[in-house]
Amino acid sequence: MRSVLSILALASPLLVQSAPVRRVANSTDVKIFQFAGALEQLANTFYEQALSKFQASDFLEAGYSDVSVPLQQIQAMWSNEATQLSVINSTLESLGASPITGCQFDLTDALANVSSMASAARVMENLGTSAYLGAVSMISDPSLLTAAASMMSVKARQQTVLNVLNQGSAVPQAFDIALNPSQVLAVAGSFISGCQMPFTANAALSVTNTAPAQPGTVLSFASAALNGSTSTTNFACQMLFGGAAFSISQPLNNCVVPSGINGPVAVFVTSDDQPIDANIREQNDNTLVAGPAMVFVDTMSDALAQAAKGSVSSSSNSTSSGSSSGSGSSTSNSTSSGTSASSDSAATSTAITVSSSALSSSVASASSTLASSSTVLSSSIASASAVTSSLISSASASTSVVATATASAASTAVASATDTQSSAVTTIISPSQASAILSVASAEAASATVTAGVASSAVASASA
Ligand SMILES: *[C@@H]1O[C@H](CO)[C@@H](O)[C@H](O)[C@H]1NC(C)=O
Ligand SMILES: *[C@@H]1O[C@H](CO)[C@@H](O)[C@H](O)[C@H]1NC(C)=O
Ligand SMILES: *[C@@H]1O[C@H](CO)[C@@H](O)[C@H](O)[C@H]1NC(C)=O
Ligand SMILES: *[C@@H]1O[C@H](CO)[C@@H](O)[C@H](O)[C@H]1NC(C)=O
Ligand SMILES: *[C@@H]1O[C@H](CO)[C@@H](O)[C@H](O)[C@H]1NC(C)=O
Ligand SMILES: *[C@@H]1O[C@H](CO)[C@@H](O)[C@H](O)[C@H]1NC(C)=O
Repeated sequence: MRSVLSILALASPLLVQSAPVRRVANSTDVKIFQFAGALEQLANTFYEQALSKFQASDFLEAGYSDVSVPLQQIQAMWSNEATQLSVINSTLESLGASPITGCQFDLTDALANVSSMASAARVMENLGTSAYLGAVSMISDPSLLTAAASMMSVKARQQTVLNVLNQGSAVPQAFDIALNPSQVLAVAGSFISGCQMPFTANAALSVTNTAPAQPGTVLSFASAALNGSTSTTNFACQMLFGGAAFSISQPLNNCVVPSGINGPVAVFVTSDDQPIDANIREQNDNTLVAGPAMVFVDTMSDALAQAAKGSVSSSSNSTSSGSSSGSGSSTSNSTSSGTSASSDSAATSTAITVSSSALSSSVASASSTLASSSTVLSSSIASASAVTSSLISSASASTSVVATATASAASTAVASATDTQSSAVTTIISPSQASAILSVASAEAASATVTAGVASSAVASASA
């Protein structure tokens, strides 16, 4: 289990950076942190608007088994993004630089409804992971590199949660996709206007198919760069996914999703058919016309994801008793009658408002000092322990001890693999090796999320 001390140790590279004696900052490092800060502003605004727009009833209508399933996660993600933004702002200040200002975020389509919100959040967290992964090999200060890697592994966990909330595989691939800043902006740029980014964006690419992509789907595209000014006869579509050494290259006019893919795919358009090297250090994007577009090919839906939408029969059957106290089982509310569900909705809706304003004020007070960021972290640790204790206390004594011990051993093993890989980064010899190790590290971080989820359900089912 993580102590407050180890959390502070993790933040210490940034605390060092915040000391009054300024170091000479590398200008590329500054640009990367300014870029990361702008993406955090986007994410922060996204979750803030999502929480203020959607009511408990909207989450239930979207099919979640219990409003707290998506809501707890979205609130936690907002809190993480707000803390990261605050720390990035302070870090930039300590480097003698300023955050990017003046950005406007157009989230009208993304926040049209709970489904579009969950889907856009999934793209955003996936992109955040890929952005840090692509940026680390450009960062020269080892302390900043460690800080970036520690935010990347959190993005990877959030991506896992959103894979689950979107009915996909929690951890679909053993590697993540690295994207450079121009590639990230091809996707994120469509939400952002009014500010000057430190990197130019590739031409945006959108996939115009209305149905979700599946193996055999022929993808069709739209882009300002596909405007008839150049013949597209030799153009290719390039699909890059985690762990592949090169993209899969196919003619642009017959771009078929192959079988054997599960999870996120970055799709590019190039002017010839040479595959794109997945190694961000070796990638030559001279022939790049547009993209990427992020596409999720969900060929497997994990049991965990189905449980989030209440479609796993064994879990819904086990909660049919009307007299359940509701103190431990997260699915107990989903089986209540229409009347009690709607009174729960009203209660939760109040809870959303209350916790949003509590969070706003904690964000406000966190904005100027790292010390108050640590307070935010400590209190989230405290509330996480409270949730764990309530789960454990609801389980029957003997079985819960076994379940907790097993789950906790698994969780520790996965978490320490992530930490080992993260700390290996600063002693790595080449940037390519660093990128490869970090790509595994973020997949390990994602696994830690699942282990924690399994731990909770092991404890919950021990109570049945
Ligand atoms: C970080 O800086 C940006 C740009 O000045 C600002 O909009 C944002 O409110 C700041 N956020 C925090 C948490 O300090
Ligand atoms: C949610 O909004 C999107 C984007 O506007 C739309 O395509 C989709 O049909 C909506 N879904 C529901 C369930 O309303
Ligand atoms: C900044 O770091 C990059 C490597 O990330 C290096 O190529 C460049 O020379 C450094 N610039 C300065 C001014 O040290
Ligand atoms: C049309 O596409 C080409 C690349 O295919 C690009 O260079 C050009 O800027 C585009 N024109 C417009 C008006 O977007
Ligand atoms: C759960 O309920 C469904 C529908 O009533 C039934 O078909 C299924 O056998 C039940 N499962 C268990 C494990 O009781
Ligand atoms: C679930 O029901 C319990 C007891 O009725 C209530 O205290 C809790 O707020 C409900 N949770 C949600 C998320 O509706």
